[in-house]
Amino acid sequence: MNAITFISPVTEEIKLVEDRMREQADSAHPDLRAALEHLMKAGGKRIRPTLGLLVGNMLGAPLEKLVTLGAAVELLHTATLVHDDLIDGSLLRRGTPTLNARWAPPATVLTGDFIFARAAKLAAETDDLRLMNLFADTLSIIVNGELTQMFNSRGLVNRDNYYKRIYAKTASLFEMTSHAAAMVSPANDETIKCMREFGYQLGMAFQIVDDILDFTGDQTSVGKPIGSDLHNGLVTLPGIYYAEANPHDPDILSLANGGWTNHENMTRLVENIRASNSTQKAMQEAENYVDRAIACLENIQPCAERDALENLAKYIVDRKV
Ligand code: IPE
Ligand code: IPE
Ligand code: MG
Ligand code: MG
Repeated sequence: MNAITFISPVTEEIKLVEDRMREQADSAHPDLRAALEHLMKAGGKRIRPTLGLLVGNMLGAPLEKLVTLGAAVELLHTATLVHDDLIDGSLLRRGTPTLNARWAPPATVLTGDFIFARAAKLAAETDDLRLMNLFADTLSIIVNGELTQMFNSRGLVNRDNYYKRIYAKTASLFEMTSHAAAMVSPANDETIKCMREFGYQLGMAFQIVDDILDFTGDQTSVGKPIGSDLHNGLVTLPGIYYAEANPHDPDILSLANGGWTNHENMTRLVENIRASNSTQKAMQEAENYVDRAIACLENIQPCAERDALENLAKYIVDRKV
């Protein structure tokens, strides 16, 4: 899977970010180096560093800081995926086998830890204490969100819980990225606030679409298992809309009593949700987030990066990957 090539203003700079990420393996054990090379080869959309570069370039931040920030953020993202796939028992990511598909859990956990450490080191290399603070806070929010999801969110059908959960696991990192990129630029406080808000809205839309793709996506394009959220006990926005419209559906009712552990019932529920209009309703909600993101760009002078940020926001809801 390639970087998002239509975001032309930063295509070359994304390569610098990837070089920076690759360098982090230099001092590692040979098996760890091989694992990191496997992860780098698998690619990914590189949406978060793209967001940071576009915001930072638009506001006149030094390129070196943006590349370091982009590499730190993308490595943090990579480490969360390494651990997430182990936790979820997912064997496919970015169209290639996950580390846990090939390695035992201890090696996978340690590889994730190493990547977290290198991400933190890169954040420190920006020489910006505020950024390091943001970075550490965001990692705590993500991990806290994953734990909450694990202990308190299985089978629950509640919109408020859903929005808190997707903020923690996804939108917080988008928010941090655009916030930090604006912070290392000469922008004023009002602009920094708008960029932070842009990242937040974009991240919320991104996770809603990720959750829709779990119902409607094509596994070959998405590159990871489809239809797996409900089987893992995760009720996402399409399921919430479906439950609101069909409160007496026996499979929905069964969720309250651990019904997600029943494979046959969940397969049927996935089919019923697909056949309903719940994914369209969820898509409308994602589009509302995208509209709010684009509104954050209102006071920015027209320029190539501003256009690209708008395109990035629109891509979020159109994507098949
Ligand atoms: C996957 O993120 C995890 C989520 C937060 C949904 P991406 O869809 O950005 O993953 P890659 O980096 O492109 O593989
Ligand atoms: C992604 O969560 C993990 C984090 C962002 C920490 P999911 O489990 O929903 O993501 P996918 O579907 O595996 O990419
Ligand atoms: Mg997962
Ligand atoms: Mg998911």
